[in-house]
Amino acid sequence: MANLEIYKEQLQKIRQYARENDITENEIDKALQNSFRILEKKEKKVNLRFIVKIMFVILFIIIVCFISFDKKFLVVMLMRNLQNSIYPGLKLIRKIAVPVIQHYPSLSELYDEWCILENPYFYVNDMDCWPCSVVHFIPDLTGHHISRSFNVGIPYIKRENFSDVRMKDIQELLWQNSEVFKTDAMKVFSNNKTYRNIQDVMGKNMDLNFSKNLYNHITWRINRMTAGRILRKLFPKPIDTPNWWEQSTEKFIFFDEPKSPPYSLPNPECSNIMIRCTTGTRLIKMIASSECSASCKSFTVLLSAGKTLWYNWWYWRPVNLPALNSTTITISYMTSFC
Ligand SMILES: *[C@@H]1O[C@H](CO)[C@@H](O)[C@H](O)[C@H]1NC(C)=O
Ligand SMILES: *[C@@H]1O[C@H](CO)[C@@H](O)[C@H](O)[C@H]1NC(C)=O
Ligand SMILES: *[C@@H]1O[C@H](CO)[C@@H](O)[C@H](O)[C@H]1NC(C)=O
Ligand SMILES: *[C@@H]1O[C@H](CO)[C@@H](O)[C@H](O)[C@H]1NC(C)=O
Repeated sequence: MANLEIYKEQLQKIRQYARENDITENEIDKALQNSFRILEKKEKKVNLRFIVKIMFVILFIIIVCFISFDKKFLVVMLMRNLQNSIYPGLKLIRKIAVPVIQHYPSLSELYDEWCILENPYFYVNDMDCWPCSVVHFIPDLTGHHISRSFNVGIPYIKRENFSDVRMKDIQELLWQNSEVFKTDAMKVFSNNKTYRNIQDVMGKNMDLNFSKNLYNHITWRINRMTAGRILRKLFPKPIDTPNWWEQSTEKFIFFDEPKSPPYSLPNPECSNIMIRCTTGTRLIKMIASSECSASCKSFTVLLSAGKTLWYNWWYWRPVNLPALNSTTITISYMTSFC
């Protein structure tokens, strides 16, 4: 802006020069407009360059996703205890992606889907299963602070002091921010075709309106920052999360009718996982990962409202089961930390 005066002056000079040479006002205007058109073209070129850059970023993300889930690369890279080193890599990519997504919200669709193609044959040869082999029960570590030397192979429970989050609360939050959720977090996965998006779940009052066989299950995945920030009001970050762990943008909310059949919990972005039950009761069967099934036992824990269960993905692949005496809908919230 500082150069505006100089610009004006120069423009005056040009006009004066033109007038002195018998060029009409009309012709001067046309000439000036033409010169601006040249600028517009240049800008378009810059945009194109930016798009090419973004393509490279995306290509880079895809390559890294591919590598992180590729077995051979891992076998070479992961020597014993280094399993967690993949995640700092993903963390870096997320850090790169976040400012790009903030400037170009239209790209977040791509960001949403990245790494969805995870390798089903992923298997680490020679994984060190000592961290989970020493687990004999799932401790309740309420009030205990997790130190850096804590063995992450030990799953644990923490009781939290908050009021239950019911369907009504989520409904209210959704109505208040319906525009955001419509564009950012509409899709749900369900075992019942009646529920195709989160509006169906809320509109049909799933909590009051049970199905006949009580089988309905819904997984709602939220992976956009705006929607995630709004949901934080109802699903805050656990108070004593170790402060060297960074929360992933990806969140899951599960709605289960009392008899909703067993399902495996999804594999989230980061390896330190927290699942919190906010209303109702479910059983969580902690099954050791296939690499560690020979040396680590399975456990079953009752997850009731107000409890959170923490575990590490490298050692545990939990299954969510119906609790026998449950009569209400269960809502649980899952997120992960890198
Ligand atoms: C839990 O919250 C209630 C009310 O908010 C408070 O009175 C109580 O002291 C809290 N308990 C703990 C263990 O923090
Ligand atoms: C219960 O579900 C049925 C079938 O989906 C629907 O037609 C009805 O409106 C729902 N009732 C309430 C109270 O939401
Ligand atoms: C799907 O859900 C609706 C609404 O709760 C219910 O009426 C219907 O029986 C369910 N369908 C199946 C196959 O469970
Ligand atoms: C279900 O039954 C078990 C064992 O009898 C009990 O510990 C638990 O509190 C019950 N849960 C509910 C939600 O009633």
